[in-house]
Amino acid sequence: MTDVRPPGVRSGGAQDEPHGRPLNRISGGLHGRGVNMQCPSAARMFDYCLGGTANFAVDRQAVDRLLPEVPEIQVYARATRAFLGRVIRFLCDRGIDQFLDLGSGMPTVGNVHEIVRRRRADARVAYVDVEPEVVSHSKELLRGTEGVTVTHADMREPETVLAAQGVAGLLDFSRPVAVLAVSVLPYVPDADDPVGIMRRYRDNCSPGSYLAVSHGTPLTMSVDQVRSSEYVYQSTHTPLAMRGSERIRTLLPGYELVDPGLVPLPEWRPEPDVNAAQDSTYSANGLAAVGYLPNEMLDVRNG
Ligand SMILES: C[S@@+](CC[C@H](N)C(=O)[O-])C[C@H]1O[C@@H](n2cnc3c(N)ncnc32)[C@H](O)[C@@H]1O
Repeated sequence: MTDVRPPGVRSGGAQDEPHGRPLNRISGGLHGRGVNMQCPSAARMFDYCLGGTANFAVDRQAVDRLLPEVPEIQVYARATRAFLGRVIRFLCDRGIDQFLDLGSGMPTVGNVHEIVRRRRADARVAYVDVEPEVVSHSKELLRGTEGVTVTHADMREPETVLAAQGVAGLLDFSRPVAVLAVSVLPYVPDADDPVGIMRRYRDNCSPGSYLAVSHGTPLTMSVDQVRSSEYVYQSTHTPLAMRGSERIRTLLPGYELVDPGLVPLPEWRPEPDVNAAQDSTYSANGLAAVGYLPNEMLDVRNG
């Protein structure tokens, strides 16, 4: 195994007990998904790429196998996480105080509710993830935090997500809500109709709501690099599919894109003084956009 480790990540078995205690090892879970020590998970691999500690040897091995050939995966992880911070600050400044975070990921530095609460102390955040250990870690972190919930659900089932107590009981969809689909749609294959899924979330939102999307796309990656990335993720419960820009635009159906539109991740409203991007614009191999749901949308629903 190539010994390529992001800064701050130790090697060895202790890492299998993040934060000094074992991860939830209950098997089963949503659609039979449980914590499988033999199988890497997208959430934990992403955490490892960011230098986090909530990952197992199997996740590190999967990333370490890929990194020498596709170092871009780490650049992407940093760039999409930075985009998440910028987009939350932007949405708070636009008056949004309710967030539905689909595919929220392992709790790590700069969680959505922490960034939000720096701007709006009364804001509400509903986290949703399909990975049981993401949910158990998040619940532990959030214990006693008012106005923030975490729901174990599959974002491909919008009606289930929207009816869940942690979502329906927290967010008021008669007012604007920001739906965050940050780096989760690559895990929704075309066969599951991601555009139809995003339409169903949209149809539950009032005018003035927003949708934020980031998505992997091969800007500098070769065909072989894309194949290798997709191959490694085939061994997870959530295989990865990169998409081209036209296809990514369809994932914001009926939304008006706010400036600067659908652009490479570091180009979406960069904040030069905050976490200044060290990576070149294209090497993140990801695109980002934020859509706004205008009033006229009410007339063209089902379009
Ligand atoms: C790359 S991580 C992104 C985490 C976070 N959104 C961020 O930007 O830092 C992708 C997350 O999506 C979750 N995920 C994948 N497919 C999902 C699905 N169908 N429903 C809910 N979550 C899903 C994974 O478990 C993982 O936590």
